[in-house]
Amino acid sequence: MILTGPDAAAPLAALHGACFPLAERWDRAAMAELLAMPGCFAVTDGAGAEPSGLALARVAADEAELLTLGVRPVARRRGLARALLHRLGAEAARRGAGALFLEVAVANPPALALYRAVGFAEVGRRRRYYPDGGDALILARRLDRPVSTV
Ligand SMILES: CC(C)(COP(=O)(O)OP(=O)(O)OC[C@H]1O[C@@H](n2cnc3c(N)ncnc32)[C@H](O)[C@@H]1OP(=O)(O)O)[C@@H](O)C(=O)NCCC(=O)NCCS
Repeated sequence: MILTGPDAAAPLAALHGACFPLAERWDRAAMAELLAMPGCFAVTDGAGAEPSGLALARVAADEAELLTLGVRPVARRRGLARALLHRLGAEAARRGAGALFLEVAVANPPALALYRAVGFAEVGRRRRYYPDGGDALILARRLDRPVSTV
């Protein structure tokens, strides 16, 4: 399911809170600020009231940036993050993006394993990027553009 606009801020913040540790949670105001940016959209699984995962991205010109990705602990290792990334990539390509970028902590092995499994490659590193002094890797993946009909 694709979500955009301010009405999505509250449910997405609640879901983000269920997927991330306390210190990394985004509240409703933070989520609303992101959703107000041009080109920002979210992807969740299913159409039900209680989705298990979310991914948020922003498309600007011909590039997309993954802003967050999370899956509830009870729903992990069932391919949901992989499916969300697939859906998000397709939507970003539909909106004109040819590549998807993201930042991930070197100290996050599950996320690194996921991104490598779905074809992301390292394109840069931000040293001491996080408050704990840890580095971030910048990863990127090409997106298949939809076939033009004109
Ligand atoms: C990272 C995260 C999104 C993965 O979600 P998920 O739904 O469990 O991932 P998937 O089931 O789609 O995993 C796909 C592949 O990624 C890799 N992977 C995912 N979690 C892994 C783990 N804990 N350890 C090793 N590899 C892992 C595997 O290759 C996996 O394929 P496999 O299960 O067939 O071996 C989830 O652990 C999460 O929400 N973590 C907390 C938030 C977070 O760190 N988000 C990323 C911020 S950059």
